Amino acid sequence: MTRTEQTQTGCFITLEGSEGVGKSTNLAFIQQWLTEQGHRSVVTREPGGTPMAEEIRELLLAQREESVGEKTELLLMFAARAQHLHQKILPALAQGCCVVSDRFTDATYAYQGYARGLNLGWIEQLEQLVQEQLRPDLTFLLDMPTEIAQQRVTKRGTTDRFEQEQTRFFETVRQGYLTRAKQEPERFAVINAGQSINKVQQDIAGVLARFFV
Ligand code: TMP
Repeated sequence: MTRTEQTQTGCFITLEGSEGVGKSTNLAFIQQWLTEQGHRSVVTREPGGTPMAEEIRELLLAQREESVGEKTELLLMFAARAQHLHQKILPALAQGCCVVSDRFTDATYAYQGYARGLNLGWIEQLEQLVQEQLRPDLTFLLDMPTEIAQQRVTKRGTTDRFEQEQTRFFETVRQGYLTRAKQEPERFAVINAGQSINKVQQDIAGVLARFFV
């Protein structure tokens, strides 16, 4: 989809991928690109993005002795998202800003749906309840072989509750994302994140330029 096909409110861009694929660096690149092209942007992340949603993020990411139920995790993700939408994303879009979110509901499908094995139909129902008509206009999926991404995470040192999962979990996350990208090729731009950073950013800039024609 290109920007011209949409309504005149702001645009909603999301950045997705498994751990270690370089989301932070490329998020900064997207923000810089938008600023240089004269677009007002708000950069945010999930879970999180508002003080209360960041508190829910802490609950979700903390390593703890108590085992966290899969449905607990799913509902907390959507609780954080509901607050994020109400408090930050929807007001920014209404003001005509481009909202760029480091992860959104595709992550819930990939992690809680495909990787944890929760029913995808439940996720669809929660998505409808919390987001109503809102869906991202453009989603970048940074993709690279799981083992290489995992080596990068290991090098970073500290691990949160998700990063402690095994390679098989992240391979399922990756395949879940790729499945979603195949289902919605219009919305997704799959970027080969295993290339040099220059090439990755050239590819991202190309997609953005086509989106904003
Ligand atoms: P981050 O490290 O990319 O900020 O994301 C925090 C973790 O939360 C990451 O391991 C992916 C996970 N996550 C989900 O499991 N479901 C979701 O819906 C979101 C947004 C993130």
